[in-house]
Amino acid sequence: MKAILLGTAAGGGFPQWNCACPQCVKCRSGDPRVPSRTQDGLAISTDGERWLLVNASPDLRYQITRTKALAPGPGRRETPIEGVLLTDGELDHTLGLLTLREHAGLKVWAPATVLSALQNDFPIQDVIHRYNAWEWRELESTICGFTVETFGLGRKRPKYAVGSFAEGDWVVAYRFIDAESGGVLVYAPCLSQWPPGFDTWLDSAGCVIVDGTFYSPAEMAPSGVDTAKQAAMGHLPIDGEDGSLVRARAHRGSHWIYTHLNNTNPVLDKNSAEYRRVRHSGADVPVDGTVLEW
Ligand code: MLT
Ligand code: MN
Ligand code: ZN
Repeated sequence: MKAILLGTAAGGGFPQWNCACPQCVKCRSGDPRVPSRTQDGLAISTDGERWLLVNASPDLRYQITRTKALAPGPGRRETPIEGVLLTDGELDHTLGLLTLREHAGLKVWAPATVLSALQNDFPIQDVIHRYNAWEWRELESTICGFTVETFGLGRKRPKYAVGSFAEGDWVVAYRFIDAESGGVLVYAPCLSQWPPGFDTWLDSAGCVIVDGTFYSPAEMAPSGVDTAKQAAMGHLPIDGEDGSLVRARAHRGSHWIYTHLNNTNPVLDKNSAEYRRVRHSGADVPVDGTVLEW
């Protein structure tokens, strides 16, 4: 089983285009210890030939062109990208679908809530239909050689869809199982809390990629966002008694990776004590383009 970290930053990327905080400035200066990162997304494959994307960030065109495994061919319009799975309907995970509009028959899998949002609130299903006929499907248990399991993570919806009445989970985590090799990957880039049963669900995954938006609960204060507002954004911090790093320590057998890193997160700087602490706990924040194979 193969996975490629196409992007590892939260919405806005790193450095964020409109942010002049010290960390974004340091990144812009080209410091190799503070590498830039595009908005999060993943590519996975059982055979290295047919690929699924998980989420479609606004940086998708750049991410595809820099990734050899996703290059088109041998036919002029052949692409190894067969489909896209969405964990949620946020703009940083869906805008890239518009970039793929030339795809003649892409399949998109998403929770029913998200499909409805992409039909009614941010109607790109209709927009894309003018270019090509895609298949928009509710989640299925077998996709492109993977057994796919989902874990519902609640009803946090994108701002553009706050008025939606769609029922069910708006955010999910995926567990991909390569039936042939037995490889298991969990992807959960949007996690507001550590839900009951999640630890058991993660167990035995070779690779666990989780929400690392924030290191601490108050890190947006210098940007004018107080702790309550930061918590309302729905991203469980890494640090603290209830943080996700405690969980990482309990799953030392898994390759534990943080993604969706916000530009305020000190782990983006490899010189920071927070970065060292994460690494010391057995977790990692690999750069964009990292290829994982197991
Ligand atoms: C989130 O992760 O909370 C959203 O993507 C925020 C955003 O719209 O950028
Ligand atoms: Mn996001
Ligand atoms: Zn910044």
